[in-house]
Amino acid sequence: MDTAKFIPQMEPWFGTEEKEAMIKYKEGGWLTEFNRTLEFEKRICDFTGSKHCIVVNNGTISLTLMALAAGIGYGDEVIVPNYTMIATPNSVKILGANPVFVDVEPETLCMDFDKMKSAVTEKTKAVILVNANGRYPKYKIDKLVDYCTVNGLILFEDSAQSLGSFYPNKVHQGTVGLAGSFSFSAPKIISTGQGGAIVTNDDDFNFKLRRLKDFGRSGGGNDTHDSIGYNFKFTEMQAVIGNEQMKKLEWRIERKKQMYMRYKMGLKGLDKVRMFDQDLDSTTPWFIDVLVEDRQGLHDFLKTNGIGTRFMYPPINSQEAYKLQGDYPISNYVGMNGLWLPSSSQLSDSEIDRICNLIRSFYVGH
Ligand SMILES: Cc1ncc(COP(=O)(O)O)c(C=O)c1O
Repeated sequence: MDTAKFIPQMEPWFGTEEKEAMIKYKEGGWLTEFNRTLEFEKRICDFTGSKHCIVVNNGTISLTLMALAAGIGYGDEVIVPNYTMIATPNSVKILGANPVFVDVEPETLCMDFDKMKSAVTEKTKAVILVNANGRYPKYKIDKLVDYCTVNGLILFEDSAQSLGSFYPNKVHQGTVGLAGSFSFSAPKIISTGQGGAIVTNDDDFNFKLRRLKDFGRSGGGNDTHDSIGYNFKFTEMQAVIGNEQMKKLEWRIERKKQMYMRYKMGLKGLDKVRMFDQDLDSTTPWFIDVLVEDRQGLHDFLKTNGIGTRFMYPPINSQEAYKLQGDYPISNYVGMNGLWLPSSSQLSDSEIDRICNLIRSFYVGH
């Protein structure tokens, strides 16, 4: 078949490379999801080892879509960690469900298993594990999977910060529950500007997700709707960026690990700054997160030296939007002392050394 004839107007000034690309992708004028989107989804499947990948417009919608497809709705309880980005609880709140907050492990900032168990009631429908900064919980992940299976709870993973991070058994984060979610917003290890993805190994769930994100169409591109659906679609433009970003992923994973080691070396022996232990064999720190004394002072001092830092997420229960009572010592502590240090993979070693030296100089005489 002469595929070239399907390309409507091949501009005369295109070179061979452009022509070949157009033939390969056979875009036929599509800007919404098409071949490049499929390629991006396949790249994520190949990288994570997941059977299906469904890309959507951001990593909050991906969580909502998962919950919607699983039938979570009004009055259902969904257990989430009290330390996370607010998108995690909001993603189910929008469906009328009630997020129930539990505290996190001090070593990993992932959801505490015993506290999660204590929070289960007859209304609990799902549990969302957040892989904080690509870390996995201290307990074996199978323990959580088995608990959810035995108790009829849906397990989701919010792995927004975890592309490139695995559990110790080399299974990629986001792939052990019914579905997992990734984000491709600007500061993530790969970015499509905005963007998100759901991975799942469940064929039926994949089918439901694809229907829901495309207006509930009964088939690609038609106007027959046999179910309610929405528009949570990606675009070919984002996919073009995503495919190029995926080519850089291995390099970025390596660089993030080197940066973590560089910071660790530079901050060694400084008892006022505590880095989290990170299993670099399996996981990739997305950001350099630390617990520090006099966080405001350090932040201001670094700022006057031209270095930006950011306070880590406050405990969600204390946010005006939720305002829930509860005993959350670990997430409270992180909310008061947690700081993200500069973490772009573009930072050079000497820039990291300068940051570490400035941090040291701040604490001299403190
Ligand atoms: C844990 C977590 N969940 C969800 C999100 C939301 O992703 P997005 O910004 O793509 O909506 C983020 C974003 O940083 C996140 O860190």
